[in-house]
Amino acid sequence: MLQIAVIPGDGIGPEVMAQALPLLTWAQSRGRALAWTSYPYGAERYLTEGHTLLDEEFAHLRDDHDVILFGAIGDPRIPSGKHAEEILLRLRRDLHLGVNHRPCHPMLDHLVPLKHVTASEIRIDVLRENTEGPYCLRGETGFGRAVDFAIHTEEAVTILLREAFERAAARNCSLHLAHKANVLKHGHGLWTQVYERLKAEYPDVQAHAIHADALLCALVQNPRPFGVIAADNFIGDLVSDLLAAFQGGMGLAASASYNPHPESRCSALYEPVHGSAPGLAGQNVANPAGMMLSTALLFRRAGWETEAQGVEKAVRSVLEADQGTQDLGGQLTCHQMGKAILDHLQGL
Ligand code: NAD
Ligand code: IPM
Ligand code: MN
Repeated sequence: MLQIAVIPGDGIGPEVMAQALPLLTWAQSRGRALAWTSYPYGAERYLTEGHTLLDEEFAHLRDDHDVILFGAIGDPRIPSGKHAEEILLRLRRDLHLGVNHRPCHPMLDHLVPLKHVTASEIRIDVLRENTEGPYCLRGETGFGRAVDFAIHTEEAVTILLREAFERAAARNCSLHLAHKANVLKHGHGLWTQVYERLKAEYPDVQAHAIHADALLCALVQNPRPFGVIAADNFIGDLVSDLLAAFQGGMGLAASASYNPHPESRCSALYEPVHGSAPGLAGQNVANPAGMMLSTALLFRRAGWETEAQGVEKAVRSVLEADQGTQDLGGQLTCHQMGKAILDHLQGL
């Protein structure tokens, strides 16, 4: 029985999560053994009760669940982002979810914003390191200066890059390491060193180390040669939003964070790439597809490939029928788009 912890979070998180939960019921109706429990961790609880994620709550997620399905977190009433740090960043870090997979497999030509590039010509998998870099959140401000530290360990870099080489080998596609070792001599120096070592182990993978700034330009000019892009936490964050745009916008991009060598029962977290979109929250207008496609990634890693592909096909059919939310130029509400996707699935 796959035990899923559902954390809808803040802003549009609960609205898009409400569209993903029927997918869990649908998978159950097809005989998949899963159960879920929802948890209220987020801004509202923090503002009313003062807690983010208590240690015993973290331990319960870690020890009594297999995976987490996460909406989004972030609230303008908490500008420090303290609760996001203590909930989402803690889960990524303390569950050792070192690999963040953000696929960019656009579905429809007219949603690709690049000239003369069709959807099927773009097949990019971003693998972002998910626990380190500046996300260690250490630093100081004072005496007229501000310092942020970034930590990169050989262990985490090796885990991420090995996963990237494995994926490129399995896909028989290119691998690009995005880095700025020309400036970040220590941290990205380590990345390029580990990369060179692994490159020698995977002679069949066409691997390239490329400065991250040059990569962004090359991606927009011609995304076709790119297959797997590996990056540290910070650069991976930036690249993944650019690639969300290639898919048709923030509302469509999905992600899976996982530990390839699980150390605890809970070893994966699935969430859309987008955030809590405070400007859309409470209006039933957010695009639920990124959340629903993240649920498809959950099905895939659980070994339920038919269900994963079912959700992906249903999203594609709804997009093809121009049944989108306003970010896609459509008129559907969040709930209506979620229901249209579910209707397609139930028709399978
Ligand atoms: P955001 O992703 O929330 O929004 C960026 C833009 O995309 C906005 O114009 C928004 O309206 C649009 N957008 C996002 N999701 C959409 C959807 N499902 N449908 C349609 N349009 C959508 O990023 P932001 O504005 O930089 O951040 C808002 C808050 O979310 C901040 O507190 C930030 O820290 C947080 N955040 C959280 C996560 C997460 O939980 N993983 C990710 C990114 C940002
Ligand atoms: C993401 C978000 C987060 C990140 C924020 C909310 C800390 O942008 O999931 O991409 O930077 O990782
Ligand atoms: Mn981001």
